[in-house]
Amino acid sequence: MTALHDARGLFADLTDREPDGVWSAPGRVNLIGEHTDYNEGFVLPFAIPHRTFAAAAARDDDRIRVASTFAEQPVEVSLRDLETLFPTASGSAPAVPEWSAYPLGVAWALRALRADRTMFGVDIAIASDVPVGAGLSSSAAIEGAVAAALAELWALGIDPVTLAQAGRRAENEAVGAPTGIMDQMASTLGRADAATFLDCRTLETRSIPTGFEAAGLELLVIDTRVKHAHSTGGYRERREACERGAGLLGIRSLRDATTADLPRAAALMDDTTFRRVRHVITENQRVLDTVAVLEAEGPHGIGQLLVASHASMRDDFEISVAELDAAVDAALAAGAIGARMTGGGFGGAAIALVERTQVAAVADAVERVFVDAGFTAPHIFTVTPSEGPRRDV
Ligand code: GLA
Repeated sequence: MTALHDARGLFADLTDREPDGVWSAPGRVNLIGEHTDYNEGFVLPFAIPHRTFAAAAARDDDRIRVASTFAEQPVEVSLRDLETLFPTASGSAPAVPEWSAYPLGVAWALRALRADRTMFGVDIAIASDVPVGAGLSSSAAIEGAVAAALAELWALGIDPVTLAQAGRRAENEAVGAPTGIMDQMASTLGRADAATFLDCRTLETRSIPTGFEAAGLELLVIDTRVKHAHSTGGYRERREACERGAGLLGIRSLRDATTADLPRAAALMDDTTFRRVRHVITENQRVLDTVAVLEAEGPHGIGQLLVASHASMRDDFEISVAELDAAVDAALAAGAIGARMTGGGFGGAAIALVERTQVAAVADAVERVFVDAGFTAPHIFTVTPSEGPRRDV
């Protein structure tokens, strides 16, 4: 609860008054289904106990001011300015400090939901338990907490899917990161007892109990501390390769292809584009298989699917790094049932599904491998599915 305390403290420093409330939203891990969301495919994430908190209060003017414990200065603009600031031109940096484009972008996206735009100004102070740059969706947690605060203060009466869509607009159009909708949906639809199976084309969801606890299993997160960012570089290139591949196949998105299309794909495109396409097509199938196995026989059966997902990201999609591969290999060698990198890649975290009695042994083994390789010490912890946005105070 330190981040809740920090958000209140920062709010007091900023305004000399009490907030109207404090709202929070969780980060996420993705069990399986990577780089499938922007291909209109399937994902199976769950919200984690780590949360971001937004202490907020109405103002009696039309200004919005955001402050964060990880930024030196607050940023303040008028609500009307939001429409001139955003959308950020494609390929350029936002006209405000990047961290502030997340909360301000959410305010901009939510304002667009009301035709008369008669919203009042707000002060918002943000603090977070979600490690930044670890592939655990610290940005979706910020978006979810701010969206929950503004939705209530502005009496918008909106559902979790609309909250998620506002977060995604902030990410895509205010920050300029070309991400899909998985992280925001995972955060706003979080449940304490289940993962969220999401069809990213229809936005239909189904809660899938992981069954980890009853099966005596724990999900370990191994944060490699290799920071990543998705607004530039490799993430965008992967997305472009997928779009190119779908175009060559003559389909709207890779969601419309199956493994039966792979021979045709191989003949139509260069080797690199083909391997990107093969990752997405096979990963969609692995998500469906994981859901089927969890429902039919429980979590012990999903290990090989996690392992195959990692191999596909390492070899075909080429988004893993040495630290992630070392974490996965060491966890498996020490007895994990399955392991894979989670999130967008190029750094961040791996997950490992481990018997409860083996947690310490697997963590020790991973730490030892990191020391021997000369890597920065990883941050290792367990996570359980957790609830979505809520009002804490
Ligand atoms: C990041 C993005 C998501 C998704 C994943 C990869 O987390 O924000 O939209 O594309 O990478 O699965």
